[in-house]
Amino acid sequence: MQFQDLTIGIPREILKNEKRVAATPETAGKMTAGGARVLVETGAGNNAFISDEEYREKGAEICTDSREMYQQCHIILKVKEPRYNEELQKHEAELFPENGTLISFLHPANPVNHESLKIMAQRGITGFTLDGIPRISRAQHMDTLTAMSTVAGYKSVFFAANNLGRFIPMMPTSSGIIKPAQFLIVGSGVAGLQAIANAKRLGAKVKTIDIRPEANEQARSLGAEVIEFNVPKELAVGEGGYARRLTEEWYERERQVLSHHVAQSDVVILTALIPGEVAPRLVDEEMVKSMKKGSTIIDVAVDQGGNCSLTHPGEEYRWNGITISGILNMPATLPIDATKMFSDSTFNFLSYLVKNGNINHDTTDEIIHSTLVTHENRIIHEGTLKSMEKYK
Ligand code: NAI
Repeated sequence: MQFQDLTIGIPREILKNEKRVAATPETAGKMTAGGARVLVETGAGNNAFISDEEYREKGAEICTDSREMYQQCHIILKVKEPRYNEELQKHEAELFPENGTLISFLHPANPVNHESLKIMAQRGITGFTLDGIPRISRAQHMDTLTAMSTVAGYKSVFFAANNLGRFIPMMPTSSGIIKPAQFLIVGSGVAGLQAIANAKRLGAKVKTIDIRPEANEQARSLGAEVIEFNVPKELAVGEGGYARRLTEEWYERERQVLSHHVAQSDVVILTALIPGEVAPRLVDEEMVKSMKKGSTIIDVAVDQGGNCSLTHPGEEYRWNGITISGILNMPATLPIDATKMFSDSTFNFLSYLVKNGNINHDTTDEIIHSTLVTHENRIIHEGTLKSMEKYK
């Protein structure tokens, strides 16, 4: 049987306001049907409106002691990367059993996660990061980041609307016509395109910038005005059609191009990302200072370090009359659909990795190569090692 002799754990997430859970009763049921023993921490599904009873009905066992649950598992499925557990006064990476396997978003290039990765490597924990799944057709059904970016991009517009001190659409009012809000969306990948579509639906005027010509085409087809910034394609687009890191000189040019547009915008949504690396800094303090009071920045790229130098991870605060948001778990604000999408794609990844109770670590496989971060007491992920060298 596929998961024979394996115990798989589903902990309760500890990040503040995290409402997702890494398995639904449906995916837990598929694991038990495949021969696994599935342990779910009590209350793990509560915020996604899933009861302990629903997991039990699918053959899972409910654990009331978090430490005990971790200790019994060969594989842990988790939504957010390990962090310090205040309640237990212990880092989550220290709760995993030695030589266990963690499958989660690890965002390993982001320097804030380097300490956790070192603990994991020291303790012999194998870590697979879900944000490393390559965007190739055979991996589409396991692409958890795309699923979550879809939610984050869609939701980012509502966060902006909530923060904004004005209407989004053009409004004929008793005080005359109110002009539509101006949105600037930086990065037109999965999250950016969702943000463009949603902002347009709400009646905003939308400008975008991306360094990949294909992304600009897609943004145009959704009705956005694309800002001219022509980076030679060989510099901008790498293997597999992904964006590449530009030189600091090009980023400086981009900031110059952007500064005028940032100043004119009511909303700036930041989603620029280079896969597996730290996000580029594209909006600096001077640019934020130039924005109108009551405007807002939503830094969706915060998990990768953010695109704005003033973003505080996990916080939303006001600076010079501008609300800057660095919410780390935006998809958690849509917990039902986000949990379903997360759990389905993560289960598909788990199924790909595990055969006859054995976990595949063969890094000649492209999917494993780009997701395996720690193994046999070492950190082996290229983007992570590059980032660790840069930020040591
Ligand atoms: P993606 O790879 O589909 O899109 C990123 C886009 O940025 C690409 O189109 C790329 O060409 C573009 N880009 C790269 N460098 C650029 C530059 N210098 N200027 C303009 N554009 C540039 O990534 P996706 O899936 O849309 O994710 C975007 C970000 O959202 C990621 O950092 C991801 O981790 C984050 N995210 C955050 C969540 C949250 O709760 N805060 C949840 C889900 C995703």
